[in-house]
Amino acid sequence: MAVLVTGGAGYIGSHAVAALAERGEEIVVVDNLQQGHRDAVTGGKLYVGDLRDADFLETVFKENKIDSVIHFAANSLVGESMTLPGKYYHNNVYGTLCLLEKMIEHNVLRIVFSSTAATYGEPENVPIDEFDRTLPTNAYGETKLAMEKMMKWFDVAHGLKYVSLRYFNAAGAHPDGKIGEDHSPETHLVPIVLQAALGKRPHISVFGEDYETPDGSCIRDYIHVSDLAEAHVLAVHRLRSGADSAIYNLGNGQGFSVKEVIDIARNVTGREIKAVIEPRRAGDPAVLVASSDRARKELGWEPKFASLEDIIRSAWGWHLANPEGYAKG
Ligand code: UFG
Repeated sequence: MAVLVTGGAGYIGSHAVAALAERGEEIVVVDNLQQGHRDAVTGGKLYVGDLRDADFLETVFKENKIDSVIHFAANSLVGESMTLPGKYYHNNVYGTLCLLEKMIEHNVLRIVFSSTAATYGEPENVPIDEFDRTLPTNAYGETKLAMEKMMKWFDVAHGLKYVSLRYFNAAGAHPDGKIGEDHSPETHLVPIVLQAALGKRPHISVFGEDYETPDGSCIRDYIHVSDLAEAHVLAVHRLRSGADSAIYNLGNGQGFSVKEVIDIARNVTGREIKAVIEPRRAGDPAVLVASSDRARKELGWEPKFASLEDIIRSAWGWHLANPEGYAKG
């Protein structure tokens, strides 16, 4: 029986595929390659197509014996979602509806879902736990919350069991250097800082220094992508053991400001990184830090890259070896 990984050619999806392959799982990858890279898929069989294409999805489910799904395929940029919300509702919400209906049709009743800290919005408590209020401050987070709720009602009606993993800020690259982060355009803090260290950008823009934080810049909880990948494997095991649906935060429980991230990157790379203060970016909460106690207790999840220095060092290794990212085309 195979695990279907949607969005398996993307940044986090490709690391989950690697983690599944390392355990000898049979893997089927679906990706429309809008953001993903063919070369990032290091295991399984790749189908290039879109979840919203009914004939395509039927072929994938007919040609393979799928027992579980890990669903990454989505647009995921906070800033873009504030100017193009329709794109997020169409790809994320409607794409998930197509997937869930196909799963029910083929009696596939287990799904691990790539969710986000952006479902919480401006937190009431720090660190955030899974029972805290969800009030997204951006359209991206709103669509992810809608997708979670869709799974809940499919559970009630059809017995679909889901594990929703709400990640905080993913960073880093696979320890063996074979895969890493390559978005186009790149909008995430860590890769942009490292591109500035490589001289591929003149500077890093700090989006706002007037937040209610000690140095005025936004605080985030950075988690290594391989630790995230591991949690997906554990979640598949948990669902296979018959566990009920659940939601888990995945983070390190420690917050770093944008300015601190830049300082750590200066230390790790030994390079000069020029920072320029700019206005706030729309949709950004000031502080997002996770309590992952539940994932540790119930999934047995134990992050291996607990320090931001180690996370940035692994990302730096990938950037030095692949300054242009994956081969294009
Ligand atoms: N930032 C800058 N300059 C940049 C890029 C980012 O100052 O050039 C700041 C942002 O304003 C934010 C922080 O760095 O305060 C982190 O920004 P990212 O774009 O790297 O990440 P986000 O926190 O916006 O979002 C990421 C994922 C989302 C996920 C979220 C959860 O992209 O999918 O983490 O915390 F929902």
